[in-house]
Amino acid sequence: MRPRPTLKQRRRLHDPIQQHPVFDETGSRVAIAGHPMHAMMVAFPITLAFCTFAADALYWWTGDLFWPRAAVWAAGVGFVIGVMAGLVGTVELLTVPGIRIRSASWTHFILAMMLLSLLGANWMIRLGDATAMVLPWGIMISAVAAGMTAITGWHGGKLVFDYHIGAQVGHRDPP
Ligand code: HEM
Repeated sequence: MRPRPTLKQRRRLHDPIQQHPVFDETGSRVAIAGHPMHAMMVAFPITLAFCTFAADALYWWTGDLFWPRAAVWAAGVGFVIGVMAGLVGTVELLTVPGIRIRSASWTHFILAMMLLSLLGANWMIRLGDATAMVLPWGIMISAVAAGMTAITGWHGGKLVFDYHIGAQVGHRDPP
């Protein structure tokens, strides 16, 4: 007969997610020569979201018509590469069991979807008349998008540095 667990043992919390056999299977499956593609691609929407805000602020400050044209390109390219990065991230999320099982991954997915909607809206409102849309709506959406980019990017970093998601490509042992 097995001994009865002590009060201390009974009080210890068990996390069924942490004990799941796939918990440590977090290696990236979409990578080039060991470098996860999502991490390489997100640099573009992150940078371009801040560039869009900077271009809007410079137009507000100087009135130079160059800045609305720069902003519409920054917003569009940031959105398109952001969607591509999102698709790569979604493949990782759905196919890697250790990523799929963590709630933090789904939080990142929801944050990213909100961000991509903002980036898309920020681009589309400018397609008719890039200059007329900057003040006030364009710059307001750019400011919120820059804030959301910081939150989403910081959270993406948390997935990698805190949970080691995507840190081991294909779950290989180091040489
Ligand atoms: C549907 C959308 C997305 C999903 C499902 C997703 C999923 C993931 C996953 C699984 C990781 C862990 C690393 C990896 O496996 O490659 C990650 C990391 C990251 N994500 Fe996303 N992501 C999405 C969109 C975005 C967007 C739009 C941004 C832009 C702000 C972003 C920023 C980051 C950053 C900065 C990292 C850390 C990269 C590193 O330092 O290695 N993600 N994401």
